Amino acid sequence: MKHRDLSEADPEVYEALNNEIERQESDSLEMIASENFVPRQVLQAQGSVMTNKYAEGYPGNRYYAGCEYHDRVENLARERACELFGADHANVQPHSGSTANFGILSKFVGKGNKVLGPVLSHGGHLSHGHDVNFSGDLFDFGTYCINRDTERFEKADVMEAAREADPEMIITGFSAYPREFDFEMFREVADEVDATLMADIAHISGLVAAGEHQQPFPHCDIVTTTTHKSIRGARGGMILSKEEHAEKVDKSVFPYSQGGPLMHQIAAKAVSFREAQRPEFDDYAAQIKRNAKALAEGLQEKGLRLVSGGTDNHMVLIDLRDEEITGKKGEALLEEIGIVSNKNSVPYDPESPMVTSGVRLGTPALTTRGMKETHLREIGEMIGERLKNPEDTGIKNRHDERVSELLESFPLYRNSEVEY
Ligand SMILES: Cc1ncc(COP(=O)(O)O)c(C=O)c1O
Repeated sequence: MKHRDLSEADPEVYEALNNEIERQESDSLEMIASENFVPRQVLQAQGSVMTNKYAEGYPGNRYYAGCEYHDRVENLARERACELFGADHANVQPHSGSTANFGILSKFVGKGNKVLGPVLSHGGHLSHGHDVNFSGDLFDFGTYCINRDTERFEKADVMEAAREADPEMIITGFSAYPREFDFEMFREVADEVDATLMADIAHISGLVAAGEHQQPFPHCDIVTTTTHKSIRGARGGMILSKEEHAEKVDKSVFPYSQGGPLMHQIAAKAVSFREAQRPEFDDYAAQIKRNAKALAEGLQEKGLRLVSGGTDNHMVLIDLRDEEITGKKGEALLEEIGIVSNKNSVPYDPESPMVTSGVRLGTPALTTRGMKETHLREIGEMIGERLKNPEDTGIKNRHDERVSELLESFPLYRNSEVEY
């Protein structure tokens, strides 16, 4: 086998990687609420020889020989995760948030049985019971909704839906809900109907780990998450649980829904959890929230309406129902000035999911770049001006220039001394 530099071995892939580095570094302000930038030490572990080995099973109990160092990194990842989230048990093997949810639903709810989850257009995720997903196909989902008046999940509404559905499991946790997730309230509902409570904290796991959000434990029985959003780690999934569910959780991943774990990803998860244990990460998470509030103020200053009137976490959801434009158009208008966001349904949206009446924005990635409240307020005002004046090329050109200046002032990987 001959080792060669990627630039020589595969110039096409090399060029695409370099273009992507340039895009992330200098092309646009990343405001997709589920995205972030990992530090180089995480990239380093991901690109390591840990990828070469099969390690089916769990530390101390593998189906293959030679797993000494794989056991070591997986144990580190598990211990760090338990400490960060106050969990008794962690399974760090799920390849993604969706496969984590697949394993849990499959093992903890009988096929065809009843589950209660949020309506997709009210902030839920596809794997919380949508028809086009395994979850809607294999289980009988009932749904709860956001309250029309408060635009929050209210106990009376969730309780009514739970009594009607009589589910085996209730899912709480959302992709587009700008308010605190009230795990305690969901526990009260779950107890009333004798259901298992699963929280999907994919979006807010960084805030939870830093103590900047209500903790899911002890209220929830099982917690699933992705490891790459606000927690700023290697891409993948994870399941956390109380001790009594540990064995079933592990079986739900291997052998039920996966084969060999991606050990290079698990090594990188361990590194990112170590990062999240540092005091600097607590400051980072607090800044994400302050930045989201400043962003909300900037948007409101320019006359835009936000779902629920603001934010408690890392995201805001702009409601464009009273504006001239749809979510799809809004996303495109922002992309033209170098702001990357995504169109998103708002609760009770008259538009289809491909068009929508909302734009979702998040602050984890820009906070990683080092931006603070003044910058996010300014960006909020720019977004407000752009969405209110779609035809104004003067505003567009001014914003375009200002976005380039901001990108230049907050380098990402460029000034780091460590090589890729
Ligand atoms: C709440 C929630 N759960 C699960 C997922 C799925 O994660 P993945 O894309 O890793 O499958 C997402 C992804 O955005 C999410 O927002």
